[in-house]
Amino acid sequence: GRVMPVAPYAEIAVIGGSGLYALLAGGTEHTVRTPYGDPSDPVTVAEVAGRAVAFLPRHGRDHRHPPHRIPYRANLWALRALGVRQVLAPCAVGGLRPELGPGAFVVPDQLIDRTAGREQTYYDTGAVHVSFADPYCPDGRRAVLSSATRRGVDAYDGGTMVVVEGPRFSTRAESRWFAGIGGSVINMTGHPEAVLARELALCYTSIALVTDLDAGVEGGAGVTQEEVFRVFGENTARLRELLLDAVAALPLERSCPCPRSLDGITLPIELP
Ligand code: ADE
Repeated sequence: GRVMPVAPYAEIAVIGGSGLYALLAGGTEHTVRTPYGDPSDPVTVAEVAGRAVAFLPRHGRDHRHPPHRIPYRANLWALRALGVRQVLAPCAVGGLRPELGPGAFVVPDQLIDRTAGREQTYYDTGAVHVSFADPYCPDGRRAVLSSATRRGVDAYDGGTMVVVEGPRFSTRAESRWFAGIGGSVINMTGHPEAVLARELALCYTSIALVTDLDAGVEGGAGVTQEEVFRVFGENTARLRELLLDAVAALPLERSCPCPRSLDGITLPIELP
């Protein structure tokens, strides 16, 4: 008989950050097109612990997309189009507090958006105002934290991620100010990724790996790109194990508020 092509499918996605360009060995690659252009790279789909998982390298495999030019809308749209409903989002961050030094993991529960000029909505027509008081999925956070505990990995439960426009790092004065307004860690990619996931009713969990102490921290020498990439590289094995465990720990049925993010709202566009 005729062999029908099977549409690629994944229920969970990992969006890999700097230094995490491959997570899933032996997966199948899929080029996904979206109304918002091409995602950062083709998506790799593979099975992990019986779950269908998609991997998308945020910056592209060759790191050709800098943080302020990442096609965030295409990335989240492509993942939802594959069937994805839960997203794990590892990223490199700077520590804004001395206790959050290189090698620490933080699972933030809050975000401060200091980006400028990035497309941060799918809804340019109609009235769609999603709640963002709690930007991260509580069940996704719990899955990551419990996996870290089981592995003996120290992970901070909670914290505020400040997301700056970049691509430059911050001045000492900016860095001290970010700490002063409640920031725990700082990076350049955590937004608008988080809000676009919310706008598509996806669960989104940030897993921040501290690669440096930011410029304002007492004793911090001021961060360099070399340091960020080196420390991320030194920790990719730990991060990979943590991610694969967290995938297995994610709920099969979502009972968090995330799937209801768009309830009662008339959408001006059809979601994939
Ligand atoms: N990503 C990693 N470290 C960073 C820092 N110190 N500032 C902004 N983004 C970062």
